[in-house]
Amino acid sequence: MKRLGPIDLVALGEGRTFDVDGERIAVFRTRDGQVFATQADCPHRGGPLADGIVGAASVICPLHARRFDLASGACRGDDCAPLKTYPIEIRDGALFLVEERAPLHLAP
Ligand code: FES
Repeated sequence: MKRLGPIDLVALGEGRTFDVDGERIAVFRTRDGQVFATQADCPHRGGPLADGIVGAASVICPLHARRFDLASGACRGDDCAPLKTYPIEIRDGALFLVEERAPLHLAP
């Protein structure tokens, strides 16, 4: 788990970019309180997704208006690559990125 800071760093209905170990990650907080984390730069031409319009668990890129699903990262209705997504949780009023674990390899 990596603590990003208090939940209030990201206003309801907005996004914010964090630098996490050299990687730019956008955290979004929807008006109903859900949080999502994705790559910060749009896969189309690098638009700052945290400055996009957040609504209905999606974000619209501020540069050319491509729309992405925040849960799956899928680009809706357009021809661009999906966003990388990261598991994120709220604990005790703070945002935590959940570190992805390497798959277990079972001995034969
Ligand atoms: S840079 Fe995001 S839609 Fe073009």
